[in-house]
Amino acid sequence: MKTYPLKPLSLVLLIFGFSTTVSALEGDAERGKAAAAVCTACHQADGSGLSVPGAESWPRLAGLNAAYIYKQLQDFNSGQRTNAAMAPFAAMLSDQQMQDVAVYFSQLVPRLAQGGEAVDEALLKQGEMLVTRGDWSRYIPSCQSCHGPNSQGAGASFPGIAGQHAGYLEAQLYNWQQGKRRNDPQQLMLAIAERMNADDIKAVAAWLSMQPAK
Ligand code: HEC
Ligand code: HEC
Repeated sequence: MKTYPLKPLSLVLLIFGFSTTVSALEGDAERGKAAAAVCTACHQADGSGLSVPGAESWPRLAGLNAAYIYKQLQDFNSGQRTNAAMAPFAAMLSDQQMQDVAVYFSQLVPRLAQGGEAVDEALLKQGEMLVTRGDWSRYIPSCQSCHGPNSQGAGASFPGIAGQHAGYLEAQLYNWQQGKRRNDPQQLMLAIAERMNADDIKAVAAWLSMQPAK
């Protein structure tokens, strides 16, 4: 079988050639820690988030790229991303506080994610296949071609998705399918999410949640 591991990435580097040099955040981790006190109820004191079975999972923020975190907070405020639990907390931060909490959380070291344990071996294999090789018969590129080696993230534009809670990953893929998340540049994620079925989504979310975040 032929694989094209670098194609989507090079395409994306073209698209992002100029925008990846996002100006450095002027954030302060100490101030961020203070402003993040209200966030820990959901995202936890160490920023690892929590997966509550049968309920909404709270994503890990620890170790995510600071500029990515900052962009997400702006996107909740502009309505490009909608979530009833999260939106009020994004709204209460000033622009400076968004930069501060972004830098703070980016420096924390996450614990292992949850949610993949109950999934059977066949589905995990399918998840591994989609993440590492994609499925070109259905025009699904491998996730790591954009999300970086071992899906640990690449720069400010491509977040680390390894070691993220399964329930949260699933929710995001459905959010794109249902138009609740429209903040992806060039609709890169919408184009992928809409080609995935429920098994694909469960499979990638479970497998990714069991890989350690760096
Ligand atoms: C009541 C629970 C709750 C609180 C408190 C909360 N959040 Fe969230 N947060 C969520 C949920 C739920 C999501 C996932 C939303 C979705 O599915 O799109 C989220 C998502 C996020 C994301 C996006 C993560 C990603 O990987 O894209 C960021 C960034 C974030 N929160 C930052 C914060 C900050 C900073 C605070 C404190 C000022 C905070 N949150 C407080 C529940 C909460
Ligand atoms: C063509 C490039 C590309 C490919 C391939 C790709 N993604 Fe993404 N993905 C993105 C971008 C860009 C974002 C960030 C969108 C934003 O700015 O919020 C993203 C964000 C995500 C997020 C949200 C993470 C978070 O913290 O909220 C998830 C989940 C995700 N992708 C899953 C996947 C999965 C699963 C695959 C493989 C089936 C995949 N992606 C393949 C470009 C890509």
